[in-house]
Formats: sequence, C-alpha cells, structure tokens
Amino acid sequence: MQIVILKDSASVAEYGANIFIKQLQKKADSVLGLATGSTPVSLYQGLIAANKAKQISFNQVTTFNLDEYLGLEGTHPQSYRYFMNEQLFDHVDIDKAQTFVPPGDAENPIAACQGYEDQIKAAGGIDIQLLGIGRNGHIGFNEPSSGLMSRTRVKTLTKATIDDNARFFEAGEYQPHLSITMGIGTILDAKKVVLLATGEAKADAIKATVEGALTAACPASALQLHQDAVLVIDEAAASKLTDSDFYKHIEAENQKLMARLGL
Ligand code: GLP
Repeated sequence: MQIVILKDSASVAEYGANIFIKQLQKKADSVLGLATGSTPVSLYQGLIAANKAKQISFNQVTTFNLDEYLGLEGTHPQSYRYFMNEQLFDHVDIDKAQTFVPPGDAENPIAACQGYEDQIKAAGGIDIQLLGIGRNGHIGFNEPSSGLMSRTRVKTLTKATIDDNARFFEAGEYQPHLSITMGIGTILDAKKVVLLATGEAKADAIKATVEGALTAACPASALQLHQDAVLVIDEAAASKLTDSDFYKHIEAENQKLMARLGL
C-alpha cells in the first residue's frame, strides 16, 4: 500500500482529485468506481472545477458506484444516486446513461446484484476505485465479517453505521438498514484503488487497515492484498499509526524517484 499522509482534509481532497484528473487525461474513456459519504465531496468539487476549466472531460467516462440503500428509489434525497447527481453528475459533461449505481429499488435485489457485476464486466472492469472508510473499517457497505472475496450482494448494516449515517436523515424519517454493495472481491478487482480518510474518528480504522492483520473484522485491511492501493489520509486520521514517520519517508523517496523519471 502507498500511504500518503497530508496535513489536512483540503490537501487530501486535492491530492485525490489529482489522481483522478491524471487518470482521465491518460485514458478519456476510463471506468471510474465512485463513492459517497462526506469525505469524497471536496474531491468531486475538484473534478467539477477541472471539468469547467477543460482540463478533463467526462463525455467518454463510465462510472459505477460502490453501494446504495435497499428500499430507496434514485429520486429519494437520501439515496446515493441522488447524492451522486447532486455532488458530481449534474455539474460535469457526463452521459448519465453511463453512470451506474446499484438499484436500491430493484424488485429482485439478489438478481440485481449479479446484474451489477455483469455490467461492470461488460464495461471492461473498473480502472480506478475511490473509497472512503467507515469508523468500523467498512468499505462500501462491506461491514465487519464481510467475506474478503465477496461480490456485489445485499448487506445488512451494523448499528454503528446506521447511527453514523443518521445525521443525513430527518428525525422520524425511514432509514434503511439494508444495502446493495459491491463486494470486497469486486473492489479488489479494480486496477487501482484510492482510499481517502480524514479526521480523528477514522484513526482506529486506519490503524487496523495499515498495521493490523488481514481480517474480515476490518474489511479495509483487504487492501493489503491489492497491488496498487493508495491511502490518502490527513494527520488526524494517521494519528494512531505507529510507523507514520516511515510512511512519510517512503513517500518522499517515491516523489524523488518519480521526479527523476519525469513521471
Ligand atoms: C457510508 C458509505 C461508505 C463511506 C462511509 C464513510 O457508510 N457506504 O462508502 O465510506 O459512509 O462516510 P464519511 O465519508 O461520511 O465518513
């Protein structure tokens, strides 16, 4: 894993956005894996700005989102489809027919999960997958105990995740406790994975992801198996890492090498 520790959340968003900008400049018809939550919002703002400045275009891009609440239609303001339209798709030159979010309103959610896997495969696989992380180490909605080779499926949310996400729902509003999420195996199939984490609330999850054992108890630890996983985190999220000085040293050496090779 490449571990990039930056001073604050703004630097994390900028660094993350640059990875996606470079990807789109290199491959205009990239297949992007996208994420929801508060963490990626500033990264999306960076992509919108780059699109407006004509540095990148989305007109050949296909996107697949990680997850969706089961039982919410895409028009529901708390659905992840709605979130993606609001935070990114409505502001860039993307063809919405090329944007995929697991269908939370599917009549047969189990069949829909296989359908989602088939769509990813038909698109040629995901070039680069964006991830946030839950306080309990979840990625997408792969909660602790998720199989490390799991595929897109229906997952039950933990109480901790429901409580964390309650802030987005009105008091008394129906909040789903089930989801459709790409599996950990689906995520690991992406050619590159970029996980963003900011704030002290994520420090335990980042510690377990980077320095803990490979275990279904911390789904993000599965990224230890990936050959091109980048963790972009701020000082607060890195605050419980034992070896952060070493990771900073590695990153400084990487930068020097890249500069020497003109990359
Ligand atoms: C949700 C999403 C995850 C996301 C997590 C963290 O549970 N399903 O994909 O990573 O929230 O969200 P936040 O970035 O708001 O902390």
